[in-house]
Amino acid sequence: MAIAGEEYRQAREISGKTRVYAHLAHPSGHVRAPQVFNRAFRARGIDAVTVSIDVAPDDLHAMVSGLHGWRNLAGIGVTTPHKETIVAEVDEIVGLARYIKAINNIRREQDGRLIGTNTDGAGFVAGLKGAGRDPSGRRVLLVGVGGAGRAIAFALVEAGVASLGLANRTRARAERLAGEIEEVFSDASVNVVQPDPAGYDLVVNATTLGMRDDDELPFDVDHLAGGTIVADVVVAVPKTRLMHEAERRGCVPHPGQLMLEGQVDQVIKYLRLEPVSNS
Ligand SMILES: NC(=O)c1ccc[n+]([C@@H]2O[C@H](COP(=O)([O-])OP(=O)(O)OC[C@H]3O[C@@H](n4cnc5c(N)ncnc54)[C@H](OP(=O)(O)O)[C@@H]3O)[C@@H](O)[C@H]2O)c1
Repeated sequence: MAIAGEEYRQAREISGKTRVYAHLAHPSGHVRAPQVFNRAFRARGIDAVTVSIDVAPDDLHAMVSGLHGWRNLAGIGVTTPHKETIVAEVDEIVGLARYIKAINNIRREQDGRLIGTNTDGAGFVAGLKGAGRDPSGRRVLLVGVGGAGRAIAFALVEAGVASLGLANRTRARAERLAGEIEEVFSDASVNVVQPDPAGYDLVVNATTLGMRDDDELPFDVDHLAGGTIVADVVVAVPKTRLMHEAERRGCVPHPGQLMLEGQVDQVIKYLRLEPVSNS
């Protein structure tokens, strides 16, 4: 969309009209969302800004309570450690977030109500599709069923994967998730498995392994067949050891940054943020 010069300039300058998309974390030093979203708002001519807010768990309730009256607040992005606890603080939850039981985005309605959703899984699927790697019909192994893994699991099943193997260090969490998915998608093929990547078309690391250089690998990469799509969720480092190993073995590396970027358009749409008008 073409944007008139003066309005375009205003979209790049924070003013009294600028909407705020706050990004909630604790700690917040490692988050990438402010850079990603501020770049996206500028590129799309949207008069909004993302700032990071570092709030400790004990202060969460008081902080969220104060948001209802913040009139130029578009919404809040939520990450560790608040995604699950903040569920109790919002007025309504929509989409797969009702089953994931964790939210990572909140929209503030004009009447002050806070509506939560979860774009992690949808962002992951959008990232795959955007790279020409539609997960539909593929045999998928998902290693790690923490917050991100749960969201990805529901979204992959919704996207129509042929089968989904769930592996987790704490097996009981994978078993619980498999049962929860079957309650929602009764014809889904979901099994709890070992973290062995042999025989899958798409293998996903949704653990925290890879955030530090000395982390072990999430599964035995010697069992990867060439051509397997190997996806990571980790964004704390630009290219994890898993991505290097996948590349070395003739697999298709799919870094965590693509999941983050896959969420951008969905979040902007969810927050109902529009480019400044050129009329
Ligand atoms: N790319 C994106 O847009 C995006 C979005 C969201 C999150 N993330 C990233 O996703 C990662 C996971 O975040 P999360 O919120 O899901 O974390 P989380 O809820 O704390 O879950 C951590 C997961 O990692 C597993 N794990 C931790 N240490 C392990 C080890 N030593 N060996 C095997 N498994 C281990 C845990 O297994 P147990 O259940 O056994 O503890 C659990 O499955 C983080 O790096 C986060 O930054 C990226």
